[in-house]
Amino acid sequence: MDKLIIRGGNRLSGTIPISGAKNAALTLIPCALLTEEPVTLRNLPRLADIDGFQHLMNQFGVTTAIQGTRPEDFGRVMTLEATRITSTVAPYDLVRKMRASILVLGPMLARTGEATVSMPGGCAIGNRPIDLHLKALEAFGAEIELTQGYVKAMAPEGGLPGGEFDFPVVSVGATENAVMAAVLANGTCRLFNAAREPEIVDLCNLLVAMGAEIEGIGTSDLTIHGVKRLHGATYRVMPDRIEAGSYACAAAITGGEVRLEGANAHDMASTTHALQAIGVEVEEDKKGVTVRAKGALKPVNLTTAPFPGLATDMQAQLMSLLTKAEGTSVLKETIFENRFMHVPELARMGADIATEGRTAIVKGPSDLTGAEVMATDLRASMSLIIAALAAEGETQVRRIYHLDRGYERLEEKLQLVGADIERVGDD
Ligand code: EPZ
Repeated sequence: MDKLIIRGGNRLSGTIPISGAKNAALTLIPCALLTEEPVTLRNLPRLADIDGFQHLMNQFGVTTAIQGTRPEDFGRVMTLEATRITSTVAPYDLVRKMRASILVLGPMLARTGEATVSMPGGCAIGNRPIDLHLKALEAFGAEIELTQGYVKAMAPEGGLPGGEFDFPVVSVGATENAVMAAVLANGTCRLFNAAREPEIVDLCNLLVAMGAEIEGIGTSDLTIHGVKRLHGATYRVMPDRIEAGSYACAAAITGGEVRLEGANAHDMASTTHALQAIGVEVEEDKKGVTVRAKGALKPVNLTTAPFPGLATDMQAQLMSLLTKAEGTSVLKETIFENRFMHVPELARMGADIATEGRTAIVKGPSDLTGAEVMATDLRASMSLIIAALAAEGETQVRRIYHLDRGYERLEEKLQLVGADIERVGDD
């Protein structure tokens, strides 16, 4: 296993190219199941989870081709062709490695009338139930069975009749599964209190490009009129708003100035507002976002919430930045029950953070010193990198396979802007 070695203190400056969004790609890829025609996705990030999903799609008989892009390029072009589906089962050994596999449930059900997917189980940040995915599909007329750790969904002859579902809790994945199931329904499906994240908009835009009929895109009330069939499409994945926000925090904590090439200012507005409240300058233009540290960092109180609120995926990274703010900040995590695993590791680097339930109290500014730390979940690992960039001395981050799931060529991108970071084999 590899580890990252970071020597802190360099002021980051320059340009970082932002990759395609992991969390958009993971819902766009299964859309290929909805048509027998080719679907080509451009700007796919080069990530372990994308490779995993490609392998899962091959498992169903979907052919995939990666059009050659130079190895030094960021991103890839993948064409998926589900001419024939030879299996409707997503097996445990694949799903357990990548819980986003649950996103094949809706499209597979829509295309073939049935789908059997291993229950994804929990992960480090929470037990991640899928009850809302199943309730939404049942509301559209699917029959759901849970047997031996698998979910089996079946549609009546002629396809899902359609229906309505009002989400008691905003759920990104459940909204995605429901929308992908609804586009080929034999009727109209309506969702209330649906997730409005930019990744959902990206999904709806691809589906419309494939011939789907969706009203209310970008709002929490979606109406999908089922159509008989969808055709292929070529679509460019949106830029990754969480990757961009993560590098923005890295630039800010080092007192630097970094241009996030390709970042979409609208998608990352809640992060931008948080950074500006902390005293970081953020300039937006059509082609990207520039982040510039301007003097002392100010403490702020932040609460995560569904879009357009502050993304839970940005909480750990902003917490690292706030260890350097002059005063006390309070961060409330409202989405997941266990998303403070970065706190003990940051404390080992000298941060002063107390947690009470889902609230963290960060006292700054702390003098951070390098340490040997362990990556846990994806975003917690990124928060350790951000702290290490501003820490005195050397930090070694182990188990960085967590990072490789969500950040394309992380050390190369940070080296582009002057970070002293290298990836070495972990003896
Ligand atoms: C997506 O996860 C993202 N993953 C997560 O990003 C992100 O943190 C999350 O949305 C929230 O924005 C992908 O898109 C692949 P949810 P998802 O369903 O869909 C509860 C990262 O770091 N819930 O919106 O699983 C759930 O427990 C990852 O990139 C139910 O109760 O999140 C949570 O408390 C981490 N029942 C809340 O809803 C359900 O059926 C939000 O979860 C589904 C969810």
